[in-house]
Amino acid sequence: MKLRQYLQALGYGTRREVEALIAAGRVTDAAGGALYVDDEVGEGAPARGGHRLPHAALRLDGAPLDPAPGLLAALHKPVGVTCSTKDPGRLVYDLLPPRWKRRDPIVSPVGRLDKDTSGLLLLTDDGPLLHRLTHPRRHLPKVYRVRLAEALRGDEAARFAAGTLMLEGETKPLLPAALEVLGEREARLTLHEGRYHQVRRMFAATGNAVLALHREAIGGLALDALGLAAGEWCLLDAAQRALLLPGEARGLGPRRG
Ligand code: URA
Repeated sequence: MKLRQYLQALGYGTRREVEALIAAGRVTDAAGGALYVDDEVGEGAPARGGHRLPHAALRLDGAPLDPAPGLLAALHKPVGVTCSTKDPGRLVYDLLPPRWKRRDPIVSPVGRLDKDTSGLLLLTDDGPLLHRLTHPRRHLPKVYRVRLAEALRGDEAARFAAGTLMLEGETKPLLPAALEVLGEREARLTLHEGRYHQVRRMFAATGNAVLALHREAIGGLALDALGLAAGEWCLLDAAQRALLLPGEARGLGPRRG
């Protein structure tokens, strides 16, 4: 890909803005040599003359560029922020580098958490990866910690595990879900699908109400292991990615520019 297009796709500005950065000699190789609009980003020899450089060799004002296309990040979403690009109020994008919202493809949440839910939220600009992570047939487990308004009755675990529970307004029963009782009003629930407001609606079906909801883990990736405080994010490396899609370890590593 041409350097100009590449920088535009990473959100560094409009065509004109990016051309101005390059013309000003601010985009360089690792040794500080200025690059040109027609230089290319990628591996191997350039198509015709000029330079072709890998993502890792590019610098803007001497600093490495943002992550290459194909990023996968984890955010510890706090309560009160929305997984949207334009709702009124605080958005998850307000917690991420501002350029991420301007990338093409944009960095999108992998599934959503409600405004009132906290915990592990994945984000990626990689459409096929997003598809694999959210595909209903994959049944990727999602683990939630739940605080309830009323004491558990005792039959919830059996009802959730049965695979017959029907949510209001739906025609297909839920997949079996595992409930671990942690206290009178406290539980851990593992789901293998992601329907709208699913946890809250499941407990509503048992006559209870969810007071606090926190996603602890997705697949084998636990938020605690990432050491993120609420509002913090990190990029996931190949080993962490492999915890999400075991069996796909090869080809899951970050793509090079
Ligand atoms: N279930 C819910 O009700 N809300 C979430 O944010 C996630 C799962």
